Amino acid sequence: MNMKVAVLGAAGGIGQALSLMLKNRLPKHSHLALYDIAPMTPGVAVDLSHIPTDVDIIGFSGDDPTPALVDADVVMISAGVARKPGMDRADLFSINAGIIKGIMEKIAAVCPTACIGIITNPVNSMVPVAKEVLSQKGVYDPAKLFGVTTLDVTRAKTFVGQCKKIDPTPLRIPVIGGHSGVTILPLLSQLGLDFTRAEVEMLTDRIRNAGTEVVDAKSGGGSATLSMGQAAGAFCLKLVNGLLGTPDLQICAYIDDGGQYAGFFAMPIVFGRNGIEKILPIGPLSDYEQEQFDQMLPILKSEIEQARQL
Ligand code: NAI
Repeated sequence: MNMKVAVLGAAGGIGQALSLMLKNRLPKHSHLALYDIAPMTPGVAVDLSHIPTDVDIIGFSGDDPTPALVDADVVMISAGVARKPGMDRADLFSINAGIIKGIMEKIAAVCPTACIGIITNPVNSMVPVAKEVLSQKGVYDPAKLFGVTTLDVTRAKTFVGQCKKIDPTPLRIPVIGGHSGVTILPLLSQLGLDFTRAEVEMLTDRIRNAGTEVVDAKSGGGSATLSMGQAAGAFCLKLVNGLLGTPDLQICAYIDDGGQYAGFFAMPIVFGRNGIEKILPIGPLSDYEQEQFDQMLPILKSEIEQARQL
């Protein structure tokens, strides 16, 4: 089966890095469609088209994403505005919610069975906004809607590797909850490594605030784009390979939890031919993680509620 992936927001910092990875790494015979309101988008596709892989690519700009969405199996969305110093993810809510709503209406009309990965912040609220629109249109499938939180896992691996002076590549670290501030909860106790309480607190804090580390370091030039492009690419490739039938592809993503925790929750899942094949248990929490979990839950619930009231 030939897969088609659409990237919306493709001319932006994340969109370009993500598209580069997908052009290089999607399975043979895949189709990649880029869309952004920015007029340069067809040019981004022409640029990437010179990379010799068996993935065809086309770019569209203008007001209507429809040509990019036709027959899409996966839609990755980084369309919207990014943080500047002094802003938190909640500051992006109203502008980005409007953009996500518009895009969801198009997806519902053009490719209602596609899997959707939302990168646009605040992820905690954008995914519930997407659910509302898709539900109103009668096409909501909880197995196919994801908030992309892969960067939190990427950062957790990197920082644990630095702390313990080990190769981070093979580490598997579940990061649960949401994708902002204290709602990000890395489960370091499940790694089988010995951490002091001070190390756990330092690492948890750094993973939670790593986005701000990048925003401040870029001095007004935006937020994480290259590490995020890589993380979103890793997410998308696993999703595509799951749709193609590769077994046991696990990842943490922010999904509809069916009311188990906050309504939406980042947790470990297994991809399959129809999106989420299985939701895995979050596993045992240490006393510290349980404390953090209890503190985070009402905050995450209120961010989800804010989105529902839009
Ligand atoms: P950017 O500003 O470089 O790119 C955003 C792109 O979206 C621009 O090219 C813009 O033209 C486009 N756009 C705006 N409205 C659009 C619409 N209606 N349809 C299509 N395209 C539209 O921003 P960047 O750095 O790529 O970030 C994108 C989003 O990703 C931000 O909301 C940011 O906060 C979020 N982000 C998410 C992370 C995560 O872990 N999930 C990590 C880092 C950023």
